[in-house]
Amino acid sequence: MSAPKVKVLFVCLGNICRSPTAHAVFQKMVDDADLSDQILVDSAGTGDWHIGHPPDARAQRKALTRGYDLSPLRARLVTGEDFAEFHYIIGMDDSNMTNMLPFKPANYDGEFKLFLSYGESSDYREVPDPYYSGDDGFELVLDLVEQAAAGLLADICKRYSLPDSSVSS
Ligand code: 4NP
Repeated sequence: MSAPKVKVLFVCLGNICRSPTAHAVFQKMVDDADLSDQILVDSAGTGDWHIGHPPDARAQRKALTRGYDLSPLRARLVTGEDFAEFHYIIGMDDSNMTNMLPFKPANYDGEFKLFLSYGESSDYREVPDPYYSGDDGFELVLDLVEQAAAGLLADICKRYSLPDSSVSS
């Protein structure tokens, strides 16, 4: 099997709520499009409180109701090496982007963007942190993530000339 063409890293603060949700949602979209040999998906956090932990139980429960299994994922820290490996490094909010700057080489030529920049226009430009919110916060994360994931896959398919099953001929 050949190495994946494109590597995508989702980053949030704790790597237990938003970025694992984005990871699982986008992985399912990639699998459904039969592109898992071409696109590698991972997630990480900028804070070290939850390293090695599974995603937050509320995030897991809400995601499962939409068919996404977050249970195999484990939190890890983003590192400088990620900038040598990943073609897309995608933050959930502005503070995630700022927290990654010390790791980002000046010559990084991948895509370093907010996740919702790939979504259709909405009232949100950042994925709000649900950690201190109720269940509604986790539903909102799923809504925003599902929408932006479709836009991200379309962007990757266009940029890397991969078959985009979401574009009907
Ligand atoms: P996440 O949410 O960045 O979406 O994983 C958080 C998880 C944990 C904490 C903050 C945000 N925390 O402070 O422990």
